Amino acid sequence: MGILDKHKILETNATLLLVCSFLVVTIGGLVQIAPLFWLENTIEEVEGMRPYTPLELAGRDIYIREGCYVCHSQMIRPMRDEVERYGPYSLAAESMYDHPFQWGSKRTGPDLARVGGRYSDEWHVDHLRNPQSVVPESVMPKYGFLEGNRIDGKYIGDVMTANAFVGVPYSDQMLENAQADFRAQSDPDADYDGLLERYGEKVSVRNFDGQPGISEADALIAYLQMLGTLVDFSTFTPVANR
Ligand code: HEC
Repeated sequence: MGILDKHKILETNATLLLVCSFLVVTIGGLVQIAPLFWLENTIEEVEGMRPYTPLELAGRDIYIREGCYVCHSQMIRPMRDEVERYGPYSLAAESMYDHPFQWGSKRTGPDLARVGGRYSDEWHVDHLRNPQSVVPESVMPKYGFLEGNRIDGKYIGDVMTANAFVGVPYSDQMLENAQADFRAQSDPDADYDGLLERYGEKVSVRNFDGQPGISEADALIAYLQMLGTLVDFSTFTPVANR
């Protein structure tokens, strides 16, 4: 009996075909999935990644609370049109401290994965107040009220502790100084040496909304301005190309 005849038995017996298909899929699945349980880390390590500062983390929570993700994704796919429009495609490592991640596929507005540094703080203030004032055809809602909502970072230490619990490497030092670091980042006149020591020299310290005191707009703009800026793509080469 030739191989074709043997295959005919399989093709004409539905139960046998089902059992054999199931076996093949099981083996294929195991080969793909099982190693993940033994690998220490499935995310390629990338230089420059750090946990969010307390102010950025607060801004991220506001981003989630306001449903910005309903219209904006944060994942640039490795396709030419996306890379030309938004910049280098997103790396897994860039969202490794995101709980929950903000990838998404709904793009009523542009992808925001690399919006950091693309506009000035003033642009963001104007845009949040009234998007149509800077982009006349915009359908984005107004978020001017964020400027009026004062925040003091009282609970940010608890939020960071929750993040640390699910694996974000916040040190004891970072947790202890959470509220002080929160304040320092939006006040260039304060002593922010500790903040830079804990989170790195590249952290931006300034009055993001341009008004006295700390508002939700300060936190949100601090977050928007750091998005996609941690990895230096002028020196980055993926492991596969090294
Ligand atoms: C109803 C959908 C919608 C929601 C909700 C929304 N946006 Fe937008 N957003 C847009 C659209 C459309 C644009 C493009 C036009 C413009 O720039 O206003 C945009 C543009 C932007 C830009 C400029 C991006 C670029 O590369 O030019 C930023 C930054 C931004 N949005 C932030 C936010 C933030 C932060 C929130 C939540 C507080 C938010 N958006 C909520 C629709 C939305």
